[in-house]
Amino acid sequence: MRQQRPEEGSLLTPVPPTTITWHILGAGAIGSLWAIYGHRAGADVRLILRDQQTLDAYQQCAGIRLHSGEQTLHYQLPARCSTSLPSPIQHLLITTKAPQTLPALKALSTHIADDAVLLLLQNGLGIAEQIQREFPKATVIQGSTTEGCYRQNRFEFVHAGRGQTFIGSTKDGEHDTLLQLANSLSFSPLSVSVSDNIKAVLWRKLAVNCVINPLTVIHRCRNGELLNSPEHRAQMRQVVDEILKVSAALGYTDWVVDLHELVTDVATTTAANRSSMLQDVEAERDTEIDAITGYLCHLAAQHKIAVPMNQQLLDKVKRLSSPHQP
Ligand SMILES: NC(=O)c1ccc[n+]([C@@H]2O[C@H](COP(=O)([O-])OP(=O)(O)OC[C@H]3O[C@@H](n4cnc5c(N)ncnc54)[C@H](OP(=O)(O)O)[C@@H]3O)[C@@H](O)[C@H]2O)c1
Repeated sequence: MRQQRPEEGSLLTPVPPTTITWHILGAGAIGSLWAIYGHRAGADVRLILRDQQTLDAYQQCAGIRLHSGEQTLHYQLPARCSTSLPSPIQHLLITTKAPQTLPALKALSTHIADDAVLLLLQNGLGIAEQIQREFPKATVIQGSTTEGCYRQNRFEFVHAGRGQTFIGSTKDGEHDTLLQLANSLSFSPLSVSVSDNIKAVLWRKLAVNCVINPLTVIHRCRNGELLNSPEHRAQMRQVVDEILKVSAALGYTDWVVDLHELVTDVATTTAANRSSMLQDVEAERDTEIDAITGYLCHLAAQHKIAVPMNQQLLDKVKRLSSPHQP
């Protein structure tokens, strides 16, 4: 019998629309997707840009352009930089990349309400716990999306692939809040659902990213090309086998029983894509390797499990993403 995937246990009960003012931290590909569709839907969505220089550039471009199929949306929605925010932020959608998140939030900390809702929509794990430590009274919600969007120019993006988005909490008793938040971020065509097992959704995404992202960096190839060579396929299998061992030690086996097939599926359906980690390395930007493979290796070490292939990939990608370091 086919194993039920964690996201299939999601709770999709509709709730009435609510008026929430969403501030978005991280006006890149994913943040702009929610910003543009939200603004078009009439929601109160506001961007927080890095600094005055970025705000000036945003104004010169007269806002954000999003290409989606035949359609181009172009809106100048409200935007501020962190030094000129007027009122305490109550709802913050965080779409920065993993290593940018803590510094970006710390720069905003005096503008964030004590009891704010901080919704983290990004790849990688470990950042939510750090945010909760930094903002102990805030409600930290985690999310995962498979929407695909890339940057074409400074404030111009392409919505390249439709996906699914789940949010959830590891704490009990937040069900109604989650439904309300999911509803308030479901700006057509984006649809946000509540997962009753967000940890499993995030773990599966981490597992897939641990395989595809670093291997595409090491081999400088597109996702689908990993499947073309027996050597690359053997490395994929080794990474997966190590993740399965760590998953077993953590009691997560049921979440990843189909990991070999899942990774092959993702590499096949995204065959033409260059992974974000490969793009980051090529552009000499920080990668998310610490929050992906680094997080896995950290857990493996805690449980005394050898993960030599993942460790090797972590070390290699770190060297490649800091090429100027000795
Ligand atoms: N793109 C996708 O298709 C996709 C799909 C699924 C998941 N994800 C995940 O979603 C997350 C976001 O990815 P992305 O592709 O949207 O990344 P991105 O395009 O690089 O967007 C991140 C944005 O955060 C901004 N930022 C960084 N530090 C900031 C600060 N201190 N203050 C204000 N803004 C700041 C960056 O500005 P600068 O440009 O000035 O640095 C950038 O615009 C990642 O975890 C990624 O793995 C992405």
